[in-house]
Amino acid sequence: MLPSWYNEYKQKIEDSIKDYLDIYFLENENEILNDFKESIYYSVAWGKRIRSILALEFYLLFSNKTLVDLDLESKDEIHDILKFCIALEFLHSYSLVHDDLPAMDNDSFRRWELTTWKKYWEANWILVWDLLNSLAFEILGELKDQIVWLELIKKFWKSVWLYGMIWWQVLDLHFEKNNKDLTLEKLIEVHNKKTWALIEFSVFGWILLSGFKWSLEKYLEFWKKIWLAFQVKDDLLDVEWTKEETGKSVWWEQKWFVYFIWIEKTRKYLNELAEVCLTTISSLKSQKLEFLVWYIRDRKK
Ligand code: IPE
Ligand code: IPE
Ligand code: MG
Ligand code: MG
Repeated sequence: MLPSWYNEYKQKIEDSIKDYLDIYFLENENEILNDFKESIYYSVAWGKRIRSILALEFYLLFSNKTLVDLDLESKDEIHDILKFCIALEFLHSYSLVHDDLPAMDNDSFRRWELTTWKKYWEANWILVWDLLNSLAFEILGELKDQIVWLELIKKFWKSVWLYGMIWWQVLDLHFEKNNKDLTLEKLIEVHNKKTWALIEFSVFGWILLSGFKWSLEKYLEFWKKIWLAFQVKDDLLDVEWTKEETGKSVWWEQKWFVYFIWIEKTRKYLNELAEVCLTTISSLKSQKLEFLVWYIRDRKK
């Protein structure tokens, strides 16, 4: 069972997403948009929010704040760190909308529901991607601190495109057809690239937002390892759990870590990564961060 603080963080992020979209669509109200609007809410619903919960906890820890400190006077206003979490979740969700397409992974099931392209008419998923992509940038543009904004945007752009997510998808599709080219070393590189965009962006984001005071390199190492652990676990989920348990399709063909070093060694590798993560953050003495490491290692979905 998840601890109550995790659920509170998750709720806070989800309320912020809803508030942001409600205001956005109120400003753009038109009956014709209703279907499309529904597909946007649908595409960002039900995630674990693990990326933004990690960023949020790092931010709170480093700026000595708690969740209630993020409540602002006006109900229509959203705290900068929560805007940052919304951008993260939009970016992540649109990457999944694309990843599930027939031309990519051809998946019909995600977060225990039909994937966006299965549920809505065909052109919708292109437009969902377009909107979530530009909204992620738009919301960063609304950050109070414009220097932070400028730095973040640069990082965001660079890491999403060829250095990050898109490069990963190209590699992923290439190795699916050319499995012989793949070595364990290359596989780790592919996995690192896969969420690199979000890792670098996330670490950079909370460091900037909590006042530039912290060493990027030190915590980047933690994030790199924790996301590699996340991916290794994702490969294991494909073998150890079912579609009903994980809420998404599981594929034997794509279980690359397991394919290379088999299940026991993959489990061992995952454990080692988790231990390294715990060592990297030991000086912070944060039970919440420690919990998140164990959660990523032990999750069943
Ligand atoms: C799934 O990410 C995509 C990968 C990078 C493996 P999550 O497992 O975080 O997906 P949601 O947001 O919780 O559905
Ligand atoms: C999706 O990766 C991650 C990105 C789009 C960056 P996968 O295809 O491995 O993840 P699932 O299994 O569909 O969630
Ligand atoms: Mg994929
Ligand atoms: Mg996929």
